[in-house]
Amino acid sequence: MWNVEYAGDTSAGLRPSGIWGPVDGIISIPHEARFRALPATSPMTEDDIQDVIDAYARSAGRARALGFDGIAIHGAHGYLIDSFLWRHTNRREDRWGGDARGRAAFGAAVIRAVRQAVGEEVPIALRLSQFKMQDYTARIADTADELGALLAPLAEAGVDVFDGSQRFFDSPLFAGSTLNLAGWCRRLTGRLAMTVGGVGFGKSRGLARHIDDSQAVDNNLPVLVERFGRGEFDLVGVGRALLNDPEWLLKARAGVPFKPFDPANLHRLT
Ligand SMILES: Cc1cc2nc3c(=O)[nH]c(=O)nc-3n(C[C@H](O)[C@H](O)[C@H](O)COP(=O)(O)O)c2cc1C
Repeated sequence: MWNVEYAGDTSAGLRPSGIWGPVDGIISIPHEARFRALPATSPMTEDDIQDVIDAYARSAGRARALGFDGIAIHGAHGYLIDSFLWRHTNRREDRWGGDARGRAAFGAAVIRAVRQAVGEEVPIALRLSQFKMQDYTARIADTADELGALLAPLAEAGVDVFDGSQRFFDSPLFAGSTLNLAGWCRRLTGRLAMTVGGVGFGKSRGLARHIDDSQAVDNNLPVLVERFGRGEFDLVGVGRALLNDPEWLLKARAGVPFKPFDPANLHRLT
């Protein structure tokens, strides 16, 4: 999770075009962290890009050697792969930028290198999101066609599971369809998809004041199960509900009421 120290590091990080994000985006990080991050840096060079791709592959190879069963790669929330996907931060005119396919080229190169390092049998998941820590209203794709063009090279490169990160799983991604990000990833690529976001919570209850508060119902488990049953997604991620109540899954199965939500539980270690 982002915090002051972490957000401070973003000012030193590599960026596709030296741009961190907009000056006025809706953010969850402290304002001073944004102001440290905002000054432009040098765009990544071809050597920088190759170094980072190699580093991903090395790390994945080590994870495999240590016995991990799968590799999950973060391509969401404004991190590096996402900064290539996002038009705002990727202004490159070389093979790593431009149209949707070009903006996906870095992510695809990372996935290809990781696939080569871990072999065909190890599943690779890729987390994607519209929203960014630099701006919760940001989008990598405004239409299903644009999303499809971003996803195609990533799927071809070897992604097995698209992890569609949303604040609320029941927020539709595009007008005219109830499908969420995971649902669109599944439909557009035929790969497995995981949804996440607000599972087990009612209307956001001030949990995420800085963002879209569009969760429609107070108990969203029936909606989740119905959408799962329709084949919209294959896996479901649960975060805060489990941190709040470690018996959450057992209770969800048995239809037993959950512990009332207390934000302090998110910060408790035991
Ligand atoms: C304490 C905490 C730490 C988190 N850290 C990360 C993180 O490092 N990277 C990330 O992509 N998401 C992180 N998240 C977001 C979760 O992965 C998840 O997408 C989000 O909490 C929405 O799911 P939920 O509504 O079930 O909690 C974190 C969430 C919490 C509550």
